[in-house]
Amino acid sequence: MVKSTGHKKINTSVFISGYGTNLRNLIKFAKRYNSPIKITFVVSSKKNAKGLVFSKKHNIDSKFYSFKKKKIKENDILTNLKKRNIDLICLAGFMKILSKNFIKKFKGKILNIHPSLLPKYKGLNTHERVLDNKEKYSGCTVHLVDAKLDSGKIILQKKVKIKKDDDSHSLAKRILKEEHILYPKAIKKLIANL
Ligand code: GRF
Repeated sequence: MVKSTGHKKINTSVFISGYGTNLRNLIKFAKRYNSPIKITFVVSSKKNAKGLVFSKKHNIDSKFYSFKKKKIKENDILTNLKKRNIDLICLAGFMKILSKNFIKKFKGKILNIHPSLLPKYKGLNTHERVLDNKEKYSGCTVHLVDAKLDSGKIILQKKVKIKKDDDSHSLAKRILKEEHILYPKAIKKLIANL
């Protein structure tokens, strides 16, 4: 379990693969004086992930892991996380699936954000599928990560109304805006409910 002792901020690692707008937003959140977290390590599954500019800008250590020999890489990540006393992992656009063993080691301490109203539309291409099915609403979900894809206890969700002229880009953009509000709220909720 994630434990916050007094005013000590929880050492947090953010895992990314892409643009990192959620990372950028979480860094902003962590920098607030009353934030319960401190981001001290960024893991990227892509060498040139755009999001790495944000960790660089804020002098946060980051490391790229290719995930090719998954077990070896994961053990390396775990060693690094331990060394840095990381107590919370936030997946933010992280495109790799973590092993059962990894998840077990951080049980109840890994959050993910997914751009749909889970348990609906797990996996990739959520917006396209939502639009194909002529849904009225979509949204985003922050949930704890367990061994199954996009499963695990839901911490918070935000509904987003679909507009008649939405395409996957416009919908993704509107949902992403909500993600940036939802993720910090979910982190606070997770930590407050301990
Ligand atoms: C977000 O839509 C997130 O929900 C999904 O991947 C996207 C990542 O965006 N898992 P960014 O890299 O944080 O900008």
